[in-house]
Amino acid sequence: MMKWRLLSALLRVLFMAGLCNGCLMSGSDYKFRLRLQEKLIGNERGRAWIPCAFTAPMRALSGRQVWFRRSPEFPLSPAEVQKKDGLMRPMISTESECSVVLWDLQDTTEEYGFMLEWGANERHVFPDRVKVASCVAKVELTPSTYSNDLVAGEETFFNCSLSKHCPGIDPKITWKGLSSKPLLTQKSQKEMHKYSGYSEQLLYTPIPEDHRAEITCEATFGENLTASAKTILTVHSHPQILNSSACTLLQDRLTCVCVSQGVPLPDIHWPLLQNKHYLIKSRASYKHTTSTFTMTVGNFTSNSTVMCISRNYLGQTNMTLPVNNING
Ligand SMILES: *[C@@H]1O[C@H](CO)[C@@H](O)[C@H](O)[C@H]1NC(C)=O
Ligand SMILES: *[C@@H]1O[C@H](CO)[C@@H](O)[C@H](O)[C@H]1NC(C)=O
Ligand SMILES: *[C@@H]1O[C@H](CO)[C@@H](O)[C@H](O)[C@H]1NC(C)=O
Ligand SMILES: *[C@@H]1O[C@H](CO)[C@@H](O)[C@H](O)[C@H]1NC(C)=O
Ligand SMILES: *[C@@H]1O[C@H](CO)[C@@H](O)[C@H](O)[C@H]1NC(C)=O
Ligand SMILES: *[C@@H]1O[C@H](CO)[C@@H](O)[C@H](O)[C@H]1NC(C)=O
Repeated sequence: MMKWRLLSALLRVLFMAGLCNGCLMSGSDYKFRLRLQEKLIGNERGRAWIPCAFTAPMRALSGRQVWFRRSPEFPLSPAEVQKKDGLMRPMISTESECSVVLWDLQDTTEEYGFMLEWGANERHVFPDRVKVASCVAKVELTPSTYSNDLVAGEETFFNCSLSKHCPGIDPKITWKGLSSKPLLTQKSQKEMHKYSGYSEQLLYTPIPEDHRAEITCEATFGENLTASAKTILTVHSHPQILNSSACTLLQDRLTCVCVSQGVPLPDIHWPLLQNKHYLIKSRASYKHTTSTFTMTVGNFTSNSTVMCISRNYLGQTNMTLPVNNING
């Protein structure tokens, strides 16, 4: 009896190991998924390198990898496409590489796709497409300051540049995401050689509302092709005390609240409390600093005032707070 149990356990282990050598546990079959690093690729003197990786269920994984032009009815011939491993690193172990280099390309823009064929006549066509164009430029957007930090009210240039100048067509650049009107654009077009770049500068005075705004420069070039670059602005600004700041006098208890904004977030000071030990509650949120205190006052007259001072490295501002006398 004991021997039989041992044998059956041993057999079970051997059976599972044999069955699942390279196979998948049921219920964890992988889905079809294609990963293309870029959707728009430039034709480099008749050739284009396409980095590509895919995952597929086991039944399809050992199938044929087929690249096609426009639609699956036009598969590429071995003279037109060659497998090229090493262009894309697999992100997960179940991914396979499908990178290729295309040969003998014409000077036109074409779309290419990828499919797997297996069994008698089964196939899966991935819906993703990659566009190969005769001239593709990369766009770069940089503020012309030492750091990316701008200061509200101080003029700055944004530089949008294209890595190439496509022959025959002048690039058109549009700017998006700025909250106020730019001062001017300066065009600096370089030579009209096929492989030289193009850049355009925009003179702009940022306002506090531009802080954390995303600005985009979009370039249209070549045969109706566009590319864009984005940057998120950091706009430093002077402190401002908001009108919601005020004091309330209820019997002899005075409660004051000061709300301030600015980048970086300002510190709040109360001259009235200088050298005194009062509990000041301070709170900083995404946009505001709020400071609150409560004190007992025996001598509060209609002439008494409370001032709040707000400070950051750019400067300081103050406000004499209105006192709402609830006592009447
Ligand atoms: C704009 O950027 C391009 C590419 O980085 C550079 O060659 C060019 O000199 C820059 N222009 C200005 C005015 O900063
Ligand atoms: C570019 O777009 C315009 C207008 O949409 C169209 O008339 C033209 O044929 C397009 N050119 C190419 C090469 O696709
Ligand atoms: C506060 O109110 C005054 C007068 O109504 C106005 O001029 C000022 O711009 C306001 N300040 C803020 C920060 O909203
Ligand atoms: C009340 O009197 C004390 C002591 O004279 C003074 O320090 C304080 O500032 C006064 N408070 C107000 C609100 O005027
Ligand atoms: C308040 O101010 C007025 C005019 O500025 C002055 O005449 C009065 O004496 C002051 N009251 C107190 C309690 O300081
Ligand atoms: C408050 O602001 C005014 C005007 O900006 C300035 O003249 C004054 O010195 C400030 N007061 C304090 C106590 O900082």
